[in-house]
Amino acid sequence: MCGIVGYIGKKRAMPVLLDGLKRLEYRGYDSAGVAILENTEVKAFKKVGRVENLLKAIETAGELDSMAHIGVAHTRWATHGKPSEENAHPHSDEFGKFWLVHNGIIENYEELKKELSESGVKFSSETDTEVVVQLIAKEMEAGLSFEEAFRVALKKLRGAYGIVVMSADEPEYLMAARNSSPLLIGVGDGEMIVASDASAVVGTTKKIVYLEDGELAKVSADGLKIELIAEAGKELKREAETVDMDASEIEKDGHDFFMHKEIFEIPSAVLNAGRGRFIASEGLVKFGGIEEIKSKLRDIDRIIISACGTAAYAGLLGEYFIEELAGIPVEVEIGSEFRYRSPVFTERTALIVVSQSGETADTLAAVREAKEKGILVLGIVNVVGSTIAREVDCGIYTHAGPEIGVASTKAFISQLTVLLLLAIYLGRQRNLSVNETKEILADLEKLPELLDSILHREKLAKKLAKKYKDFTSMAFLGRKYSFPVALEGALKLKEISYIHGEGYPAGEFKHGPIALLDEKFPVFFILPSDDVYEKSKSNLEEIKARQAPVIAIVTEGNKELMRMADDVLEIPKIANILSPFLSTLWTYLFAYHVADMKNLDVDKPRNLAKSVTVE
Ligand code: AGP
Ligand code: GLU
Repeated sequence: MCGIVGYIGKKRAMPVLLDGLKRLEYRGYDSAGVAILENTEVKAFKKVGRVENLLKAIETAGELDSMAHIGVAHTRWATHGKPSEENAHPHSDEFGKFWLVHNGIIENYEELKKELSESGVKFSSETDTEVVVQLIAKEMEAGLSFEEAFRVALKKLRGAYGIVVMSADEPEYLMAARNSSPLLIGVGDGEMIVASDASAVVGTTKKIVYLEDGELAKVSADGLKIELIAEAGKELKREAETVDMDASEIEKDGHDFFMHKEIFEIPSAVLNAGRGRFIASEGLVKFGGIEEIKSKLRDIDRIIISACGTAAYAGLLGEYFIEELAGIPVEVEIGSEFRYRSPVFTERTALIVVSQSGETADTLAAVREAKEKGILVLGIVNVVGSTIAREVDCGIYTHAGPEIGVASTKAFISQLTVLLLLAIYLGRQRNLSVNETKEILADLEKLPELLDSILHREKLAKKLAKKYKDFTSMAFLGRKYSFPVALEGALKLKEISYIHGEGYPAGEFKHGPIALLDEKFPVFFILPSDDVYEKSKSNLEEIKARQAPVIAIVTEGNKELMRMADDVLEIPKIANILSPFLSTLWTYLFAYHVADMKNLDVDKPRNLAKSVTVE
């Protein structure tokens, strides 16, 4: 959901803004723009497509070396108005005095646009965003200061925004505000960077101040003042936090795509998610972040897991893990449905939310709904200091490190690791035996090396990708633990290769969708040698009878499947409950190579954004 960068300080603004845009581009990349202010003159550049296009335009204009020390920049994920130069940010008022970038949706923009148009304002874009900058200009006409006009305009808005705005007449500061879309301020020495996330900032400073919803900030090179939008004059004191992220962590390190790098980080993602949280030999699991609610967790008799996309599929596996190991009933609700369903809670219900970015609006809405109802909310989040991480009652960070590829991979595996450990933790508060715990944890300890063994066989996935890349549809099937893997594998193929992957419960496929099958509709079937293997094998027979080509993920050494399937990918022997970790990895490698062989931008698939901060 778009990237925002604002800079004011001792350095030349242009390089900082462009570097920030490049680091934020994974968040949204329909178009990009920058506006800088040099000696009361604003120079603005906007281009459709990638930041690279913008860079070339600035270079052609000879402005890469501009001496401007203040500016705003934006990469867009369009919500209102097609990707075009007119709709690209920054947006300005008619007189080119104010230049504004925005992340989010202004829900009441139509009525505001109508009012402004009727008062004679001429709009130049189709976006919702433009009403904000026109409002500020209008309020200034009424004699307000920039800061006052900004506040008055904000009070008229309804919806989600992260906003940074620059005034050609006030080169000493930027104004910023936040409501439901993330915004933070990097505090440097004689410089400030306002950005959507820390990746744009850590190259300059690791000291970060997070804006909260309903707050605005006046940002100058040497300081910042934070106030409530609703109440002028009452400064809010906010300590800067130091983020533990190096700019080097957000480099490709020789991989063609971030997604490839992140797939190869999956073994360490398991290690990082589990580090310091379990002792296999003692059958012990502990989480620092939930110690204070230990007794509440012991009393929980129902759990709802809410998340979106890949995180929701992790939640599905969490459902299996928790019900099996802790005997607590669990239901998974995707974020966008959760609060419109009028969910029924009791005081012994807990909500668990799962989110890589910690900014997904649909998931955040579930958090706020549950907190409204007073139930315990636990967050499993990757991005430290993200909105969800800060709004839940308690949380467990997945420690996967920055995930830049829009298609989530290592974060999913780290979510599974945390969910499994949490299921054991809850189980040990109930009837799970220490011996069963030791067995599972012993296999969890072996998991990173088993994942590595699959990565070392990447070329097999590449071979299959070459064979299957030209099909237009593919079914992904699995039972029990393999069903969420089927959903996730199908999503990965869809979102990066644009081939229609259809994830389905293997046992359900015969109730209609099997009609799709013929020799042109291959099936990716996940059937490790677990307690539902025989049933899955029967389903495979049904599929082979319809001439569909089959790729089967099987437990190594399964000779009979090698005869039945057209192609086989083997996973090492492991406790059934851990097989999803291994089978998922094959689906990632397969989807990645299909997309790569189709010469697609694997890291930035069309129409997508890394963090969807609108509902
Ligand atoms: C995953 O590959 C997708 N990009 C998307 O479904 C993502 O999982 C979903 O938007 C949830 O994001 P979150 O984990 O940051 O909340
Ligand atoms: N709603 C605004 C637009 O469509 C901002 C979108 C974004 O967050 O990038 O331009």
